[in-house]
Amino acid sequence: MDPPNPMRLPVLLPIRIAVFLLASLLVTTAVAHHDLGLHKNYLIIVRTPYEYDRNLFKDVSSWHASLLASVCDMAEEELDKDPSAMARLIYSYRHVVNGFAARLTEEEVRDMATRDWFVKAMPEKTYRLMTTHTPQMLALTSEASHGGLWKRSNMGEGIIIGVLDDGIRPGHPSFDATGMKPPPAKWKGRCDFNSSACNNKLIGARSFYESAKWKWQGIDDPVLPVSEGSHGTHTASTAAGAFVPGANVMGNGLGTASGMAPRAHIALYQVCFEDKGCDRDDILAALDDAVEEGVDVLSLSLGDDEAGDFAYDPIALGGYTAIMKGVFVSAAGGNMGPDPATVANEAPWLLTVAAATTDRRFVASVKLGNGVELDGESLFQPKDILGVHRPLVRDLSDGTCSDEKVLTPEHVGGKIVVCDAGGNLTSLEMGAALREGGAAGMVVITVEELGSVIQPKAHALPASQVTYSTGQKIRAYMNSTNNPTGELVFKGTMLGNRDSPVVAAFSSRGPSKQNQGILKPDITGPGVNIIAGVPKPAGLMTPPNPLAAKFDILSGTSMATPHLSGIAAVIKRAHPTWTPAAIKSALITTADTTDRSGKPIAAHNGSPANLLTVGAGFVNPMKALRPGLVYNLTATDYIPYLCGLRYSDAEINSIIHPLPPVSCAGMPAVEQKDLNYPSITAFLDQEPYVLNVSRVVTNVGRAKSVYVAKVEVPGELSVTVTPDTLRFKKVNQAKGFTVTIRPVGAPRKKGIAQGQLKWVSPENVVSSPILVSFKKFVQDNSTTAHLKH
Ligand SMILES: *[C@@H]1O[C@H](CO)[C@@H](O)[C@H](O)[C@H]1NC(C)=O
Ligand SMILES: *[C@@H]1O[C@H](CO)[C@@H](O)[C@H](O)[C@H]1NC(C)=O
Ligand SMILES: *[C@@H]1O[C@H](CO)[C@@H](O)[C@H](O)[C@H]1NC(C)=O
Ligand SMILES: *[C@@H]1O[C@H](CO)[C@@H](O)[C@H](O)[C@H]1NC(C)=O
Ligand SMILES: *[C@@H]1O[C@H](CO)[C@@H](O)[C@H](O)[C@H]1NC(C)=O
Ligand SMILES: *[C@@H]1O[C@H](CO)[C@@H](O)[C@H](O)[C@H]1NC(C)=O
Repeated sequence: MDPPNPMRLPVLLPIRIAVFLLASLLVTTAVAHHDLGLHKNYLIIVRTPYEYDRNLFKDVSSWHASLLASVCDMAEEELDKDPSAMARLIYSYRHVVNGFAARLTEEEVRDMATRDWFVKAMPEKTYRLMTTHTPQMLALTSEASHGGLWKRSNMGEGIIIGVLDDGIRPGHPSFDATGMKPPPAKWKGRCDFNSSACNNKLIGARSFYESAKWKWQGIDDPVLPVSEGSHGTHTASTAAGAFVPGANVMGNGLGTASGMAPRAHIALYQVCFEDKGCDRDDILAALDDAVEEGVDVLSLSLGDDEAGDFAYDPIALGGYTAIMKGVFVSAAGGNMGPDPATVANEAPWLLTVAAATTDRRFVASVKLGNGVELDGESLFQPKDILGVHRPLVRDLSDGTCSDEKVLTPEHVGGKIVVCDAGGNLTSLEMGAALREGGAAGMVVITVEELGSVIQPKAHALPASQVTYSTGQKIRAYMNSTNNPTGELVFKGTMLGNRDSPVVAAFSSRGPSKQNQGILKPDITGPGVNIIAGVPKPAGLMTPPNPLAAKFDILSGTSMATPHLSGIAAVIKRAHPTWTPAAIKSALITTADTTDRSGKPIAAHNGSPANLLTVGAGFVNPMKALRPGLVYNLTATDYIPYLCGLRYSDAEINSIIHPLPPVSCAGMPAVEQKDLNYPSITAFLDQEPYVLNVSRVVTNVGRAKSVYVAKVEVPGELSVTVTPDTLRFKKVNQAKGFTVTIRPVGAPRKKGIAQGQLKWVSPENVVSSPILVSFKKFVQDNSTTAHLKH
């Protein structure tokens, strides 16, 4: 990231930043003479019901300052001078957690641990944005047309989507406010850009760096949330970007770009710094403010791949406070697939999003000398090279076109060079090296692990990226003849690929590590080759046209997440009283389980994606708007559930803060299988090999309606539903039922079986995935770690 441009300082330096500036100066001087740089950032969790007493302290920060002062001498000294400028306090949290972030020595932390009010001190931690690290290109075309959905929901008008990310580019055409109304009166946030940069589309933009600045060089006060990179602009414009008509992909695919909720407002909270990461305590501070400022939806394309306890993870902690206040939270599942148990952001109050391909391809075929034509993709598709057969050659080194010494004009000049991906150079770099050597074209064979999914780039020369299996056909042809030839045939942007969606290899897989009894990821959205706004495209090899220069293609669960955030905003606009759980239920129970050709949605390797890969399926926004029934939950419903996970009272109280403290001793715990979740996970791993799962559905469709249970499971399972008919007389009426799951015959010892429970009425099909595992995914005792406190 380029250093912040001093010309972009805010005209009005907000009060809070001014205070922190003062605080930082104090710390700088104090640290200089008082210690030898031993202070580190910690997040300190305070035991509930220890709370600040309004009679003793003027605000929560002075109370936190006094707790700090009780353990560190220097803090006391500063406290006497100016409690508001408590030098060691980084953040004083009000909503998301009972606690604060501070600069402390190890000794001070040990001292603190003896205090009654102390629960836990956590050393600083860095989270990551969930984009795959693929080189990028420029492009622009239309998003899927959800015209009918937008009509009914007015495109998310009046809904505020809070995006935590790495920054945003104001003035981008995706953030044009033409036709946007002012934000609703409840909005209390602010935009730190100048007044011409903020508008009725981009209503909030702030940067949170008080913790990060201690860790990373180059983050200087004050920071404006401007992104020279692409992530935050891309995710924000995917969620709620305005219509940007009339652009194209290097001459192909004329179309209109827009976000999922084009009339929603965007509030950007910068918590990540490109190539550095996102600091946990900054994330927590942004969530603390976002829930207070009045966002309706939070879009979190970031996380920690080693997802931790809900009691100590900022996204779980802040997410809980958010849903308690009615804010829907959509979070990236991570890009650590296809290995199992890699999914992040797995708290049951979050929507955890997986990533799949869309139906759009940028087709660049290879026509072999024997007449066979094989499809690949590329984003650079010049029109003027067509119709010429050229020699097809392999690279003379290891085949990866990574050794520039052998890519000489005499070997590659005028030829089409076939390269295996996975060498020392990226495919963009290979293309640049080949162009240097005078090659006429390039065929890149994708690594086998990525299966059927191609992530096309804007190459420096005419090229086609093909799958591994297509690559083997090309190699076999080349082996079969002494003079292999080929031709590149560019077909441009093609919509309606019937073999889509396909879940990407990178998309993190379940089971959930923290709650194996809840199916995670929840749902899949478009997350491969997503075109959205950026300040400027990265890795550009060919000069862009002016509009295309503002769009880029990225892949990751980071890209799938804002699709779901935007769709949730649209549902919320249509159903303002629905809880976040009801919106989540609507998304999950209406998701598509088949691709466009009617086959089960496939994973990258071509086999059907199981529930741990795809969750309930691929989001279907139109159906989600009218789910018929929902599985409702309120924030307090998660408390007996957390007791069931054997979290300690102190941990539960830090999660549910600012709700009043609770004790698990006083309430019956809820087992994971019985949480009123819109999917069902059951373990048939022990006697008596039969499980009852209880659920309650709420009627949000036609007042008088009858739903009949229909179960689709493999022959090795018996699943019965009691009662099997639900008769509703009015809207919002709730009815309970029990699902009894048992094996047919002797149960297997391992593996999973899966199916669907469908509540069917003449208007609606309300589907819940059923995942049965014959063995626990993780040892039962894994949660006993919580008992240590
Ligand atoms: C406001 O900010 C935008 C974007 O950073 C910049 O282009 C413009 O020059 C600024 N205007 C003023 C008056 O500072
Ligand atoms: C790739 O890099 C490694 C390590 O630098 C080197 O040993 C190898 O020769 C390189 N391969 C090619 C094809 O250049
Ligand atoms: C092509 O020939 C090479 C060298 O004989 C061999 O290693 C390779 O497996 C062959 N590839 C295919 C796809 O037949
Ligand atoms: C879900 O439960 C909450 C709290 O009881 C209630 O306000 C809401 O109306 C219920 N239904 C939906 C669809 O959110
Ligand atoms: C399971 O539910 C069924 C139907 O409600 C009931 O008859 C049965 O007794 C229950 N079994 C257990 C073990 O709770
Ligand atoms: C759970 O039990 C297994 C095997 O008995 C043991 O290896 C593991 O360390 C235990 N885990 C915890 C968190 O106690």
